[in-house]
Amino acid sequence: MERITVQTQPIDGQKPGTSGLRKKTNVYMEPHYLENFIQSIFNGIGGVAGKTLVLGGDGRYFNDRAAQVILRMAAAQGAARMIVGKDALLSTPAASNMIRLRKTDGGIIMSASHNPGGPKEDFGVKFNTPNGGPAPEEVTDRIYAATKEIGSYDIVVASDVDLSKPGQSSLGDMQIEVVDPVADYAALMEELFDFDAIAKLFAGGFTVRFDAMHAITGPYAKAILEDRLGAAPGSVVNAVPSPDFGGGHPDPNPIWASELMETMFGPDAPDFGAASDGDGDRNMIVGRGAYVTPSDSLAVLAANAHLAPGYAKGLSGVARSMPTSRAVDRVAARRGLDCYETPTGWKFFGNLLDAGRATLCGEESAGTGSDHVREKDGLWAVLLWLNILAVNGKSVQQMLDDHWAEFGRNYYSRHDYEGVDAEIAGALMESLLLELPTLVGRSFAGKTVSSADEFAYDDPVDGSHSARQGIRIGFEGGGRVVFRLSGTGTVGATLRVYLEDVCEDPAAMHRDPQEALAEIIAAADAIAGITERTGRDTPDVRT
Ligand code: G6P
Ligand code: ZN
Repeated sequence: MERITVQTQPIDGQKPGTSGLRKKTNVYMEPHYLENFIQSIFNGIGGVAGKTLVLGGDGRYFNDRAAQVILRMAAAQGAARMIVGKDALLSTPAASNMIRLRKTDGGIIMSASHNPGGPKEDFGVKFNTPNGGPAPEEVTDRIYAATKEIGSYDIVVASDVDLSKPGQSSLGDMQIEVVDPVADYAALMEELFDFDAIAKLFAGGFTVRFDAMHAITGPYAKAILEDRLGAAPGSVVNAVPSPDFGGGHPDPNPIWASELMETMFGPDAPDFGAASDGDGDRNMIVGRGAYVTPSDSLAVLAANAHLAPGYAKGLSGVARSMPTSRAVDRVAARRGLDCYETPTGWKFFGNLLDAGRATLCGEESAGTGSDHVREKDGLWAVLLWLNILAVNGKSVQQMLDDHWAEFGRNYYSRHDYEGVDAEIAGALMESLLLELPTLVGRSFAGKTVSSADEFAYDDPVDGSHSARQGIRIGFEGGGRVVFRLSGTGTVGATLRVYLEDVCEDPAAMHRDPQEALAEIIAAADAIAGITERTGRDTPDVRT
């Protein structure tokens, strides 16, 4: 087999973001683009000679072609073994599990998560470390540095590897093991949750609708919910992964999963609804007529996880990203649990999970997970909810009502302004930053600022410091607004405004969040001049 060295040059902009390198698919398909980045990953991790890596992706357009290139490059550079999901498919949490289970040297996941897929949409590649989690900044910094120095890459000339059925093969001296993407993951879920209890719940007539959004969780959800747990056939909808996700936007929120929302708020709503994203790590939970915000979901799961066998001995601690609402903090305070506030991005939970300081983690961006893998996990969250409901027999709405009655409610919403001119968005953040020292004590739209800072994080495990992680402004009475620029967009800038207010009045637990937050929303605009600077008088997305 011929091994060749191809001359190349650094390509601008190959800096991994919040979760790997995401670009338009046609950019990834330009000559050398993918190869440069893969070679830089290999260089950044000290080469792949003698190593074993996991490879899989969410099945989006170019997933299959990229997998073949990655295999040829790994073979050229002396990798010992590649463990590849059948058809190059693996959900992100299943890949994380596989990396850990097989004690590999890490893995490459091909995904742009919840971004749309297709020739005109997005593609992405990320590297996960041997603990199964997204590469921390120190590793992505080395990968980025390698992209700026690259002069050549090595690849073998070979025809495509057959990835269509499980089994062993080889490419030159490199072993290739094609695995069933679902089996090991399903076995892990069965260890954590009381499958008998959930099966009994379904057998008793409890109905569920899981929307896989034409993405990777279809096969996982069908195998687990329908085949193993006995949910009625057809409970999993949009279950066949397609390269362009059926032309949709595989992001499980009320906007993009509106079909599911309509069903859940309609006359024939099932008892429980859920959706997951392109690569299977995000989740949305909806009851009959009851949408659960990701922040509330984290808090409810933290308060009740002990009802599932995998968490019966209690939690060692909980963690949330900074913009996530502080509902979980209230649970932690009552239950005497440590509670960590980290920057946005699942990678920041890795050390806490590895060190056993946190068992459960979550983010407002529809991510929840635990120490069972090192990624957030959509189907896991669904199964934990179902396990809890199977034990206590409540409806989703009842769970929320009881939770708010016990802990209070943190009204919460995120407003996104998408495709904003990057300079305008940058200037908005910079001028906010300049004003920060003057804000405390001043009132905006009737709200008085009690704290204002730019969030920075000192990792309590390895001491690393992450600066400039978003602007937090607290108001008297417990409200809060956070301003942050998205780290995952591919065009222009997305301004995210996270709004929160605390309610402890039992008579005011069922207000419309936008209404309950009206004062905070007005104060946010008065402080940052969103409308004035961006010319937008309303956000593109409200979650
Ligand atoms: C990805 C990461 C999440 C993170 C999210 C934030 O989905 O996996 O951990 O919360 O990006 O995205 P943003 O666009 O707000 O930077
Ligand atoms: Zn995702």
